[in-house]
Amino acid sequence: MNYEHRVQEFYDSALHCYQAIMGDRWHHGDPDALAVGLPRLRACEILEERIVALTGLRAGGRAIDFGCGIGGPTLHMSKVTSASFVGVSNNERLNTIARDKAQKLGMSNDVTFSTLDDLGYKNLPFPDGSFDAATFYESVCHVPDKAALFAELARVLKPGGRLGGMDWIQRPFGEHQTDDQIMQFMGPVNEAISIPWHGTVESYKQLMEQAGLEVRVAQDLYPGVRCWSTVQDDETPAWETYQGPEQQMFRRGEEALAAARRAGVFTIGMWVAVKPAR
Ligand SMILES: C[S@@+](CC[C@H](N)C(=O)[O-])C[C@H]1O[C@@H](n2cnc3c(N)ncnc32)[C@H](O)[C@@H]1O
Repeated sequence: MNYEHRVQEFYDSALHCYQAIMGDRWHHGDPDALAVGLPRLRACEILEERIVALTGLRAGGRAIDFGCGIGGPTLHMSKVTSASFVGVSNNERLNTIARDKAQKLGMSNDVTFSTLDDLGYKNLPFPDGSFDAATFYESVCHVPDKAALFAELARVLKPGGRLGGMDWIQRPFGEHQTDDQIMQFMGPVNEAISIPWHGTVESYKQLMEQAGLEVRVAQDLYPGVRCWSTVQDDETPAWETYQGPEQQMFRRGEEALAAARRAGVFTIGMWVAVKPAR
């Protein structure tokens, strides 16, 4: 079984758990919004608004959201920009829920959801220069061939179009400086949450540059501090006591992630890159 298929099956199991605990947004919220006490889902919307604004997407534009989950971020970005979106993922069960949500919101004409084959990200089914913007929220981490994905996202962008997104990454922190020390914490996260390898702020930047993009933003969203957001306060008990399909796996994943956060080696990054105009 290729790694991508393992991830596809992981999301079949994760659907119940993730929806129950995280609603329709499966990514971290904006750190500043969380710091002033806003609820997690509002903080997620704020980060989506921030990233989509940095892509410069305008009303009437067209964008692709890679790894769209059950569509919460995709629909919100379309709502705030009045641009149309295609959400893509490799999981039809998730996309069915996302389409249903779009229909209930009366947004089906503006936001569609497409299911890719497991390796479809290496050959996206869109012509060159199809989109004004491309976005990703905590999805690239699951992809083994991140270089191929960024090359494809660059290909489908119009000249002058922008890629913006955020993702799980790793970094040296405190006494954990070497690869071995970092992997002691990140290895169990990779295993439990079906992540082939975590990049860094710099490695994503380099992959985007190799794809021909000019990187304008490449930052750690928790520079110099542990990445706790509100997960520690609000959600850890829900993860630790979660009951449902594959509950041991999700509890184990939460424990591994909490250990990596505590060690400081887990964080989230944000990037914005532009495809040079011809
Ligand atoms: C953590 S979820 C994030 C969902 C959404 N972006 C959000 O923030 O709510 C990761 C997403 O990446 C998608 N994904 C993982 N590997 C993929 C692949 N090889 N091709 C397409 N989508 C993939 C999963 O199906 C899932 O929708």
